[in-house]
Amino acid sequence: MSNRAFYLNGSWVNSGESHAVENPWNGELVAEIAVAEAAQVEEAVATAAAAFEVVRKTPPVERAELLTRIADGIAARREDFIATLIAEAGKPVTFARVEVERAEICFRQAAHETAHPPGEILEMGATKPGRNHFGLVRRFPLGVILGITPFNFPLNLVAHKVAPAIATGNTMVLKPALKTPLSALLLAEVLHEAGLPAGQINVTPFGHEHIKQLLMDERIKMLSFTGSVDVGWKLKTEAAKLKVALELGGNAAVVIESDADWRAAIPKVASGAYGYAGQSCISVQRILVQRGIYEDFRSELIAYIREKIAAGDPSLPATIVGPMINSRARDKVVDWIQDAELAGAKLLTPLKVEGASLLHPVLIENAPGDAAVSCEEAFAPLAVLQPYDTFEEALNIVNDSAFGLQAGVFTPNITKAFQAYEALDVGGVMINQVPTFRVENMPYGGVKDSGFGREGIRYAMEEMTEPRSLIVNLG
Ligand code: SIN
Repeated sequence: MSNRAFYLNGSWVNSGESHAVENPWNGELVAEIAVAEAAQVEEAVATAAAAFEVVRKTPPVERAELLTRIADGIAARREDFIATLIAEAGKPVTFARVEVERAEICFRQAAHETAHPPGEILEMGATKPGRNHFGLVRRFPLGVILGITPFNFPLNLVAHKVAPAIATGNTMVLKPALKTPLSALLLAEVLHEAGLPAGQINVTPFGHEHIKQLLMDERIKMLSFTGSVDVGWKLKTEAAKLKVALELGGNAAVVIESDADWRAAIPKVASGAYGYAGQSCISVQRILVQRGIYEDFRSELIAYIREKIAAGDPSLPATIVGPMINSRARDKVVDWIQDAELAGAKLLTPLKVEGASLLHPVLIENAPGDAAVSCEEAFAPLAVLQPYDTFEEALNIVNDSAFGLQAGVFTPNITKAFQAYEALDVGGVMINQVPTFRVENMPYGGVKDSGFGREGIRYAMEEMTEPRSLIVNLG
């Protein structure tokens, strides 16, 4: 157990308030962290506003060098990060390792992008009044960004806000999830050692009660929020003058056509549904399988889950399903499963809970479309299996959701692939891949209740900047 100060204006700061971070696997106290009080939250904003006047002027080459040193720092402390992700988030070690690699890539990508800023030469002669003018557009940083991150990717979802903010010369007050703040605090150590200008990124865990005030603060120019649907949309209504990017939840679907190599899809589908206990916004929750292959797919998927999807201690390399973040989250989903059973659904795997928050992988069939397991975001090792007849029907079922983050379609047929791309109301369509697929340079975000705005380094850099035109009258 350790005590952790937070990172404010380039220094480590304590406060009179603290929060206990517990290991979701064994309930042990991992750390007691300092939580910023009202005056310290105010200081974080003031310090970020002051730092903006410095960092907005730093040349891209300096930003790139800083970002590269941060990436090197993450690589150098890879094992510390992995241990932290296991301890605070219960993330299975294999997934923790991938998360750390991804965070390192975020910073390297951001370094690369500093040399390729978006911009445009305007064709001023396209209109009569524009003739004899020269025009160009470049993008400029916004200023202070309020970044709010969730518990499930405590490092990489922080990296997806911090790296583009540094690349664009913005500053940030970052509020990491109180359940899993330690990876962000460890990242702050790396930022500091890499030579981050004081005040540019402040890693300040604090309570929800301070957010409303911040959203009305004229010094803050943008809210970049990743988290729950209810909280995200509520904050948007309170952020009247801010630019807002919301990356919220989903109940992602995957479609398996009978012409697909469906056997090869099974490991991907199972890992997408159950990896890290399904605690990803793009976890596979709805598996739609064409009727002709349904029975075979179902029995092979059940066998695969039984043989290959190990649940338990996240520090073991074989573990795919670790604990859920806490017992409350697990118990809520167990209630949903029992409600679905009462409504006629059939469990294809036994409902098995263990310890405080472990739920073994659950596969459900015949769940009504309006059952919570089908239409809400489960954020759990839970998937519903459903047959369909035609491809059009499958696409309609995918779209019959309040959410629209990513979807997957398995088919070798290029026409169907483009049909899905055109028809699906989501932020990203994955062909012969699960919706859970994400790499750091992809645009990432959703439509409908899943939010708006995009992350993915270059896309986040665009969100964090405004275009400014330069028009020269050539006489
Ligand atoms: C998320 O849960 O939204 C992040 C998923 C990912 O980055 O893989």
